[in-house]
This record gives sequence, structure tokens and C-alpha cells, in this order.
Amino acid sequence: MSKEIEDPRINNRSGNEPFDSILDKYLSRRRVMQGGLGLAAATVFGGFGLGDAIRKANAATVSGTSPLTLGFSSVPGSMTDAVVVPEGYTAQVLVPWGMALSGDRDWSADLKMTPDYQANAMGMHHDGMYHFPLADTDESRDFLLVVNHEYIDQSALWAPKGGPTNADSEARPGDEVRTEINAHGVAVVRIRRTTDGKWEAVRGDRHNRRFTSASPMDIAGPVRGSAHVVTAYSQDGTETRGTNNNCACGYTPWGTYLTCEENWPEVFINTAELAADQKRLGMPTDRGRYGWETAEGGKNGEFARFDNTPRGSDARQDYRNEARTFGYVVEIDPYNPDSRAVKRTALGRFRHEGCWPGKVVAGEPVVFYTGHDSRNEYIYKFVSRALWDPADANRPGDGRSRLDIGAKYMNEGTLYAAKFNADGSGEWLPLSTDTKIPGQDRTLGDVFGDQAGIIINTCDAADLMGATPMDRPEWGTVDPHSGEVYMSLTNNSKRSEEDSAATYTEGGDDIEALGAGYATAPTNAANPRANNTYGHVIRWREHNGQHNRFDWTIFVFGSAASEGKDVNLSGLTADNQFASPDGLWFDARDNGQGILWIETDNGLDGGRKNAVAEQTNDQVLAVVPAALSGSENGSVVGPEGQSQLKRFAVGPNECEVTGIFATPDKTALFINLQHPGNWPAENSDDATQAPTGKVRPRASTVVIQKRDGGQIGI
Ligand code: FEO
Ligand code: CA
Ligand code: CA
Ligand code: CA
Repeated sequence: MSKEIEDPRINNRSGNEPFDSILDKYLSRRRVMQGGLGLAAATVFGGFGLGDAIRKANAATVSGTSPLTLGFSSVPGSMTDAVVVPEGYTAQVLVPWGMALSGDRDWSADLKMTPDYQANAMGMHHDGMYHFPLADTDESRDFLLVVNHEYIDQSALWAPKGGPTNADSEARPGDEVRTEINAHGVAVVRIRRTTDGKWEAVRGDRHNRRFTSASPMDIAGPVRGSAHVVTAYSQDGTETRGTNNNCACGYTPWGTYLTCEENWPEVFINTAELAADQKRLGMPTDRGRYGWETAEGGKNGEFARFDNTPRGSDARQDYRNEARTFGYVVEIDPYNPDSRAVKRTALGRFRHEGCWPGKVVAGEPVVFYTGHDSRNEYIYKFVSRALWDPADANRPGDGRSRLDIGAKYMNEGTLYAAKFNADGSGEWLPLSTDTKIPGQDRTLGDVFGDQAGIIINTCDAADLMGATPMDRPEWGTVDPHSGEVYMSLTNNSKRSEEDSAATYTEGGDDIEALGAGYATAPTNAANPRANNTYGHVIRWREHNGQHNRFDWTIFVFGSAASEGKDVNLSGLTADNQFASPDGLWFDARDNGQGILWIETDNGLDGGRKNAVAEQTNDQVLAVVPAALSGSENGSVVGPEGQSQLKRFAVGPNECEVTGIFATPDKTALFINLQHPGNWPAENSDDATQAPTGKVRPRASTVVIQKRDGGQIGI
């Protein structure tokens, strides 16, 4: 690969216009255009505003009634070791870290974790998740739950022996490393609702299994078999071991789960000169996050593979390419307990937050939206070459190979990066070999060789094409009625070069902020705009029949209620103030309407110390987009729409709220609580109960239901 593209890779010095400056132009242009025209004119500004107005009218016409209304009172902010839900609701702890998936042994607070036990138990730090119905049971009462285990809390993992051994220097013991590797990855576990309305795991079910950061997996798509992924383990570049730092998720119309590899670069090291992609993505040069590479012994480079320093005469002799087998969207068939996970490389290689399917239409390509969660990184989408055939849809128990269907739609297609223009329009920039680089007399193929080269260096290809650097893209979600896409831009913190480049802090957001040297990139520290601190949610809609054009608007700006009007652009109040939006889920209801659920990853001691974090722990909010008509401040949620955005639940101290879906009948909302400080209570599965004294904390799924069995939220 050519030297001339090395510089843009370091700290994203691509010169692409930062999102903040585009946003400034967008807002000022909206204000000019709306001057003196009032709110009615604001709603028809540009194609997107017009779409909103039409959709609102449609919703009202279809339903014949007023828009969907949230039927609960906003819960107050809370800072306790317990979950808070609205009156009339319950919250149950389900499948916490360490719960055995089968066998006679199960969790106890003094359990000494071993590699074998952890490989057969729920992993740590639950994150993205989704549900998969079984063939012969009620889809809302009995299904396979698939859960990501994003990272680990070494102090909780090794609590009975007082902490990890040689956490920061010298060699880690092999069995500790194996255990930590097995606490990462993905779990598949069957769960069901019992007659008393509670939920339970079906231990010993044949579908229950774990994927860890050591499980053998296949590499598919453009990178498969390329020289970029040849290792001593897979000399033809077709396989690897493990998926790591699985953050958010997705699912496919054919019934598979997508797990996304986010902050994996830091578990690898290269003590020699970093290759361009290693620099761009932030691989350490001295010690990995947990020092896994320091453990001695193991077969087939079990631990040595985490050290990517070239040591042999060529790539077949060492693990110089090991990290190039990470950074992907990974497909899992939860129905087939013998199937392998498959890395779908066509969807790009970076710090993938998650992967969300677009509106599915027969005879049209299948679309997936993704984002790269680091400061000033990009939003992407993948458009399949194959056109959607409804005969490929998920049919539980039909015996077909879902991974073959996955290969049909996910191995070939076009990857695009997003460019957001100041006037509310947007362009999708194709990252293909024949794409001409703007302002240059060459193509991406000239620079990167082939599609495998483009994928390995996805961010650099997006740099060259002029994609728009964003404020840390997190979750997305799609309104299945309209096809509108929502995506969280969680924050763009003002960390200095020193504090973010030099430290890694367990259990907090620093795992996400350490990044590819973006600490040294401009972070708009001098920009007083509220969205740098509090984050916002953006929304876009594709132009019909085209895959390279969209229109966008800001949906809501996070803010503390105490901020002034220049910062609190959406007019948030004590009832709904939030910061660092992260998890999103569009919960489609009847009459073309739905609820957008927003989860936050803000934090206090382990995270950001802003005015929202001083008022409440992380939370779940609900909003009905169709009921909103837009604000003069440039966001869909404005000061006049406050009753449509409510706080639904609050998590315990120190936790992040993430992972979300509701059962198809909408009677149970599933969320995950990651890295709580002192929760859950030991002798109760009531998530709203605080422990007495100090417990060994366990990330867990929480099921929120109405006491009367009705639909949640309304
Ligand atoms: Fe793992 Fe960007 O959240
Ligand atoms: Ca997380
Ligand atoms: Ca996240
Ligand atoms: Ca986050």
C-alpha cells in the first residue's frame, strides 16, 4: 500500500470538514430561512421537513385519532443502587454475568472463576442483544436471547482472590487470560415467561452456547483468502479465532444475529513500527489492554497471536495479521448450535458500533447502516448486490442454512460512507475500486489495490472520499414504516492529548474514548456548543430509488435542563434532560406510528462529569416522533414538544444502559445494565431493590413489564 496515504490515517488528519462546522451552517441557514415565517413554515423546510409534515398527516389520517401518546409519568432522575421504573411497572434481573448455561454448578458470590466455567456461563458486560422466536412457541413468551458481552471488569471477575494477577506489568497467568477471553464474546440462551409472569433461563437447552474471543470463526466477503489475513493459524486466510469487544448488534431479515466488533484494537500490540491501518485504528505498541499477549504457553499461538509484531520470515510464520481478522460485523445463526460465526468483511473494517437493517422491500437490495464509534469518524451503509426475495425470510425451524442466505446478501455489495451537507442534504460516497477520488486523477482501486485493500483500510478510503467526521456514532435504528434512520452521536469530549492518550480506565467510557490517537485530533474543545458535551440524535431519510442521496435533520439535542437556550436547543427539562445518547430502538406500533427509545451512556464517577450526570444515573427515555412537528432551533424535538419525550427508567449507580428490544406483543421491554457499581441485590431478582451492603457487581439483562400485563410505554 502506498506511503502517500499514511498521513491521512494518523489521527484522521484528512481535512474533511468536521460535523460541528457543518451543523453551525445548517442551523444558521435554517434560522435565516425561518425568519419571520413561524413554525408552520419550519415544518416544510426542505425535502425532509416536508416528509415529516406528510408523515404526520398520514399518521393522523390512518389512525383517525390523535398520535400515539406515552401513558406513563416521567420518572425523576435517580442516583441509587437500584433500577427505577414508572408506577405500575416491574423490573426483573435475568441472565446476569456468571449464570451457568447448563450443568449442575451455578453462580455464587464467592465463585472462583475458571476458564471452563466461564466458557459455559453468561459473559461480562452485557451490551447489544436481540430475540429469535422458536418454531412452536409463542414468540413473545419463549425465544432465544442473544447477548453481546462487550468487555470485562477485572476487579469483579477476580474478586475472591483480590484482583487480577500482573494486571499492568509482567506475564499474566494463562488460566486468567483464558478466563478473561471467555468472559468476552456472545451468549445464546433460551428464555421463557412462566405462568406467574416472570422470566427464566432454560438452562441446558440445546441452543445455549457461547462464542468467546477464542472461538474458531470463518472470514467471508472480499477479505477472505487475501494476503491481509494470512496467519500461522490460517495460512490461506479463511479463518480466525474469536470475536472481541462486541458492542451493539443487529439482525437480518433471514433470522440471524449480527454482533459488532468495536474497541478490539487495544487487545493487540505491535512493538515494531505500526502499519498504517494499525496506527489509524489505534493499536498499542507496548502492552495490550489486559496483557493477554504476555501469557506463556498455549497451543497454536493461543496467547502469542495478540502480539502482532512481525517475527517470522513471512505472514505464515507469525501473527502480524491477526488484528486484521477483527473489526467486522459478525453473523451468528442462533438456531444452529453447530454453526460457526462468520465475519462479513464487505461491511467494512473499523470500530463497528452496530449494524441496523434498513426498510426491507421485495425486489430491492438489503441495506445495513453502521457507524464507527471514535471521535471524528464516519457513518456507513452497505447495499447488497442481491435483491431481497421474501422467500429468504426467517422461518424458525425450516432447516435451511441461514448462513448461506447471509452469504447471498452480505458478501457482495457496495459500501458507502456518509457526507452531510450544510443544506440538509447528504451523499453516500461509494468505497469501491472504480470510485474516482475527488480532486485526484486516480481511483480507490489505484490506492488500495483491490476491494480487500479498501476494506482493511476502510477509514482511509472514507477520508479520501471526503466523508463527514461525526461526534462518535453509536446506535442506529430504522422506522420500518418510513425507512427513516436515527443514529446517536454520543458526544465529542474535550479530552486533552495527555489524559486520553496515556490512560485506560476500567469500567468507564474511557474504553471508547482512548481511540486511534483521536485524542490528538481537534475535538472542538474551544467550541462551547452543547452537543459536544451532551450529544445528539440525527435522523435521515433516503431519496426514493437512489442509493447515493439522503436528507437529514437533527432529531434531538441532549442537554442539562439548567443550560441556557444556546446549549439546550431542544428545550429539555428536569423530566427528560439527558446526555450521551447511545442505545436506540424504534418500536413500531399500529397505524404507522411508534416509540423511539433512547438509552444513555453518560455516567459520573466512571464517565463524564457534566450537569446531567450530577442529576441522574444513566437512563431510558421514550419519545413519539410522529407527534412532533419540529422546532425553530433546528431539531425535531423542541421546547414545545416536551410532553412527547419522557424518562421511562433509570439504572443503578455507575451503570450504562444499553441493549434494547420489546417482545412482539409489546408487553415486555428488555434492556441491559452494563458495569453497575453495586447491583444487583444478591437474594432477589427484583431489579428495583438496592443491595444491603457491598455486592460483587454483575451486568445483567432487565425485563420491564406492566403489572397489569399491558403494552409498555403507552
Ligand atoms: Fe461500545 Fe460505542 O459503545
Ligand atoms: Ca457499552
Ligand atoms: Ca455503545
Ligand atoms: Ca457509549
